[in-house]
Amino acid sequence: MPNSPSSHPTGAAVDSPQLCRLPGTVGPHSALRKIGNTPLIELTHMSPNPNVRIFAKFEGTNPTGSIKDRIASTLVCELERQGKLRPGQRIVEASSGNTAISLAMVARQRGYKACVVLPEGVPPMIADTLMLFDVHLHWCKPLAGMRGAIEAAEQLAKDCGGVPLRQFQNPLNVHVHETTTGEEIVRDLPNIDAFVAGIGTGGTITGVAKRLRRHNPKVRIVGVEPRMGERLQGLTRLEDHFAAPLFDIEMLDRRLLVTAARSLQLMREITTREGLVAGVSSGAAMHGALREAERMDSGNIVVMFSDSGWKYLPSRPWDAAERDDPELDEVHWW
Ligand SMILES: Cc1ncc(COP(=O)(O)O)c(C=O)c1O
Repeated sequence: MPNSPSSHPTGAAVDSPQLCRLPGTVGPHSALRKIGNTPLIELTHMSPNPNVRIFAKFEGTNPTGSIKDRIASTLVCELERQGKLRPGQRIVEASSGNTAISLAMVARQRGYKACVVLPEGVPPMIADTLMLFDVHLHWCKPLAGMRGAIEAAEQLAKDCGGVPLRQFQNPLNVHVHETTTGEEIVRDLPNIDAFVAGIGTGGTITGVAKRLRRHNPKVRIVGVEPRMGERLQGLTRLEDHFAAPLFDIEMLDRRLLVTAARSLQLMREITTREGLVAGVSSGAAMHGALREAERMDSGNIVVMFSDSGWKYLPSRPWDAAERDDPELDEVHWW
């Protein structure tokens, strides 16, 4: 049998995202102090191999329900540290949803305004949430892709005198996952054998892989991407990796392609079999974890569940998957 994870469920506090390090500015009970230190939850029903245990790094417990709270807080902290932000100033970012919501929360907490460039077609739930935060929304054509949204955000920042957040370019995106997400995983499961995650900006997989490799150079790193022509919340395809300078392909042992239908099916199974409500990209990553478990003799896998699934529910995404709807692959499943 594989070894058990370490026995301290709360664990010693790992250096949390850097905003918390600004002295005297963030109280111990601030929402910003509740970012990170997310649980590892064992998925006891889904492993296809009795000798392989699968643990979800469940980022849904962050204040806005996604891993992007780590990035938004860290990048805003850095802008503050560099003296680039004045109270009330606008922070501008291109996002397909999660980063926008995280930025909205951090901006509210720290007294800034958030402006977000969103591709048209995001479900009403995301736009409604952002409007609740009083975020300024700017729409761009989805066909322009993330590159188009990033360019639009840069232009918008110039036009409105705002400050761009730049999650796709800032190396701190990798660093925060190395020093917090990866550090927490090593702390909670020192005998990890494989790590599986989707790739968006590449920050998560690159940063976590760096930390895990320092801990154990033999840890296998598996990246999951949507199949050609398919789109999944937060994930990009390497071939489309226009400007993801943060992503380090050398860190990967293996790349797996996944369909939208399979991701949605597994998203649902995570709820029906494990009782967890995780997002669509968690279903995609779970596909990678199951494949990896089949290949291993024994061991421990950590699979990244980047967000909770509640915001996807109003669109009932699994309905189309269960109907085997041919339109499925044409739809962007936010
Ligand atoms: C739901 C979801 N999963 C996975 C990712 C990928 O994370 P990263 O950008 O760190 O590669 C994202 C990124 O936005 C996301 O929103």
